Amino acid sequence: MPIKSVSIEHIRNLTSVAFEPSPRINILYGANGSGKTSLLESLHFLGLTRSFRTHQFRYLVSSQQRESLVFSQIDPTASGQAKALGVSRSLEGDVKIRYSGNDIDLSDLASLIPLQVINTDTFELLEGSPATRRQFIDWGSFHYDPAFIQVWRACRRVLQQRNSLLKCGKIDPALRQVWDSEFIHYAKRMTSLRKAYIDQLKPDFDTILEKLGGDLDVTLKFSPGWDLKRELDELLAEQLPRDLKQGFTGIGPQRADLKVKSDGVSAAERLSRGQKKLVVSALKLAQGALFHRMNQRACVYLIDDLPSELDEQHSRLFCEFLEQTNNQCFITCVDPISLQDCWSADTEVAYFQVEDGRLLHTH
Ligand SMILES: Nc1ncnc2c1ncn2[C@@H]1O[C@H](COP(=O)(O)OP(=O)(O)OP(=O)(O)O)[C@@H](O)[C@H]1O
Ligand SMILES: [Mg+2]
Repeated sequence: MPIKSVSIEHIRNLTSVAFEPSPRINILYGANGSGKTSLLESLHFLGLTRSFRTHQFRYLVSSQQRESLVFSQIDPTASGQAKALGVSRSLEGDVKIRYSGNDIDLSDLASLIPLQVINTDTFELLEGSPATRRQFIDWGSFHYDPAFIQVWRACRRVLQQRNSLLKCGKIDPALRQVWDSEFIHYAKRMTSLRKAYIDQLKPDFDTILEKLGGDLDVTLKFSPGWDLKRELDELLAEQLPRDLKQGFTGIGPQRADLKVKSDGVSAAERLSRGQKKLVVSALKLAQGALFHRMNQRACVYLIDDLPSELDEQHSRLFCEFLEQTNNQCFITCVDPISLQDCWSADTEVAYFQVEDGRLLHTH
């Protein structure tokens, strides 16, 4: 069970809130504007020091306050021994992360609480730019293979160097060759790690989409960012005049994508809103399933307004699926009745009513 207790100070309309969540399913319900999404944001802040709704901290911190703080007891490996984790951030930009009495950095924090968000922004996985899908692939690859983060950083560094040379206009061919061979090395490495991850993810995605009642023909295809049938050095040489004109590198892993198709055409164009919700949720839930298999650890799912876009039967199947996983879930909805009869008797379900920035544990 990752998160055992939480106390939140000064996040949006949550002045001071403390609660002990269920290790499994938590339903947070209440009227519009009561603070449900803010509670999910607070847990996201605990796991990553930032919100999923805004890039600017000044919108997250409560009005008239200068600092937000979330303190918790967490047990990341389900060892039975919880440890204290505290995350604070001030308007001046100071971020403090304390875990078990020590200061830790953001990458340590990110691996402590593997977070997954499902909300209206998740539709971007289908409708948004390739950058959103690269982020999705890279979250998985980061947790799938410990080598990924080094390769990702090295590839970004080499690409920045190559791009700054391109911006100068003229490049000494010998120097370009040095950077190109480094770039090719890391590009290939990164591509094989990403591809291995997507290959592993596909069967989970298919199974989960079916369990969610998505009776759809949906395929995932990893696109590495260049034509794999050709040699990357040849392609880079061919592309050089255009790269010089544009001042950046036009092909490579920085252009990777995950093509999601339904009945052979773009799923973003083909599917209904509810069908899209099932597909993007299946993608996120597949990441959690694979993560669990690889690391023997569950994810924390923040699911904002689960019933929205779904009919009663699909909401029920969604809940039934969540019940079968080991994830700790925080699910918001306006009306608790919409999710009340979806759980079997032995699932630990906690209901919290959110009212004007306060929290009541109801049953
Ligand atoms: N920085 C802030 N300081 C204080 N209050 C804020 C701040 N930012 C937003 N709010 C308010 O916090 C309240 C809670 O917003 P939140 O989005 O969490 O509501 P919600 O329960 O998710 O509502 P909905 O059902 O409409 O999605 C809103 O009334 C909002 O106006
Ligand atoms: Mg909300």
